[in-house]
Amino acid sequence: MCGIMGYVGENAASKIILEGLSKQEYRGYDSAGIALRCPDGIESAKIVGRVSELVRRVEEMPSECASAASGIGHTRWATHGGVTETNAHPHESVDGMVVLVHNGIIENSRDIRSTLESQGVKFSTETDTEAACQLLAVLYKKCDGDALAALSKLTAYLTGAFALVIMIRDRPDEIWCVRKGSPLVTAFDGDACYCASDPTALLGYTHDLFFLEEGEMAALASSGIKFYGFDGKERGKSSIHLNWDSVMADKGHFEHFMRKEIDEQPDVLRLTIDTHTIVTNVAMDKSLTLPKGLMKRVRRVQFVACGTSFYATLVAKDIMESLGSDLDISAEVASEYRYRNVNGGEDTLAIFVSQSGETADTLAAARIAKSMGTHCIAITNVRGSTIDREVDHTLLSMAGPEIGVAATKTFMGQISLLTLLAMSLLKDRGVLSANDEARLIGGLRSLPVSQNAMLEREGEIRALAEKYSDSKGFFFIGRRECVPLTMEGALKLKEIAYLPSEAYAAGEMKHGPIAMLDERLTVVALVPDTDLREKTLSNVEECRARNAPILLLASDGDESARTYADDVIFVPRTEPELFPFIAVIPLQLFAYHTARTLGCDIDMPRNLAKSVTVE
Ligand code: M6R
Repeated sequence: MCGIMGYVGENAASKIILEGLSKQEYRGYDSAGIALRCPDGIESAKIVGRVSELVRRVEEMPSECASAASGIGHTRWATHGGVTETNAHPHESVDGMVVLVHNGIIENSRDIRSTLESQGVKFSTETDTEAACQLLAVLYKKCDGDALAALSKLTAYLTGAFALVIMIRDRPDEIWCVRKGSPLVTAFDGDACYCASDPTALLGYTHDLFFLEEGEMAALASSGIKFYGFDGKERGKSSIHLNWDSVMADKGHFEHFMRKEIDEQPDVLRLTIDTHTIVTNVAMDKSLTLPKGLMKRVRRVQFVACGTSFYATLVAKDIMESLGSDLDISAEVASEYRYRNVNGGEDTLAIFVSQSGETADTLAAARIAKSMGTHCIAITNVRGSTIDREVDHTLLSMAGPEIGVAATKTFMGQISLLTLLAMSLLKDRGVLSANDEARLIGGLRSLPVSQNAMLEREGEIRALAEKYSDSKGFFFIGRRECVPLTMEGALKLKEIAYLPSEAYAAGEMKHGPIAMLDERLTVVALVPDTDLREKTLSNVEECRARNAPILLLASDGDESARTYADDVIFVPRTEPELFPFIAVIPLQLFAYHTARTLGCDIDMPRNLAKSVTVE
């Protein structure tokens, strides 16, 4: 939540910072601001609204600021203090010495504030961030202008999560970065230094990035970067080469990132399969070397994640069960896992799934699991992310940068990698049959063609989205492998079209929710042609009898499904366990076109941020 960009070099900082902010706008977009080192000191501009508005405001700044060679910027997702220009970052200390931007939450900000206020420091905003800013100014003075010493003291005072990027008035050649709990990445391209919350903002300058670790600080100057621990001791650091193409983070000819990312799913799947299989065999061992005998030893597998990533783990859990796993498998949202008295230890394998690798709850859950001696694997899309650096093993999903706030192609990257991982683990355990291995790998290999066939049916789905966009709400229902999809379909509609949508196991409807149904509440029923087809169709009939319009997802060729529904979207056939790989596409497209019909901001839905780095 919140995007930060900083630059110190010889070029016009404003342009670089504004570009960096617009690339990270999905992280938060209720207000934005910039501070530039102009000839007469540090000048700031702040607005309520989008970065495009900030661009206009920067044009009104004194002309000398246009050529300022260093600065910092911020795009905000409000936590403490309303969405106002005053509360927008950067914040400035009352003596004008410190100007900073922040991502995270400073938990003891109230205490710091009341202490400083009792000493006569005047606060001007409602934010938690200002406490850090005013305190740093006081400490800087106390440390006689020794920035490193002041920052060491500051980090000892602050509790909570903070990525801070700081300019100090009488230190014109540097920018300081501090990281605890919220991500921050830095880079040096030979002529200038950069810092950002998200690596995609830096890829246009260099692919060799320095990710700050927990408890690390950095001093950026045009000549290079120096790294320090919170104790003030300098430390060495190696860069990580990020193999992403900056063009991948462009919209291309698509109207929205989300639509482009939906289209990229067959490629994401193909790449994952090509990397981790040989003919009809899983070959995860190329990238995953688990301790010898681990899979024979474990009794328990725990999947842990949030949001769409959590639904991906439900797909994996279902696949493991369908393959006859003899393990005790659970899937749990990280925000609950972290506060429950969960089992763990040497007989447990925990698999944490996070696109960003920075989700606060998922990180906290992983730390708890590690502390219990549980073996921890992460599946993430971002090399160098916090989760990548903290767990025992990481598997990188191959989705490339995802910019739309609604997860689409990263879900595909996750379920494909999770499926292969699940098979590989069961194979190690001696539970996976050769027949199932060949059947599923064959099925996975043929999926991209079927997914493309599904994408070609977009016109039909768009027409249905337009037809149903005036529904007062939606119920997504299905059984077994379809249950995670009902959740994902409902979530997509909630987050980008703001429509009430519930996900229910089809058999549960009659235990309460069916009471809500009438002719204005649409039921989207997922009914592939499996052993559960008839059972699910009976539940559809029950909904139909209550006058709910029925939109059915059925397998290609299942013509009789039409008699149960007002409308049917046909989905190419595949192995039963792999139905989610294809059926998620019409659900994503349905949400996309509903949101488009309703005129919603698809890539940046209200109240959301792509990466949830606060609890
Ligand atoms: O980065 P993560 O995968 O850990 O994010 C978890 C959720 O915040 C995320 O999946 C969210 O639910 C999606 N944006 C929904 O589309």
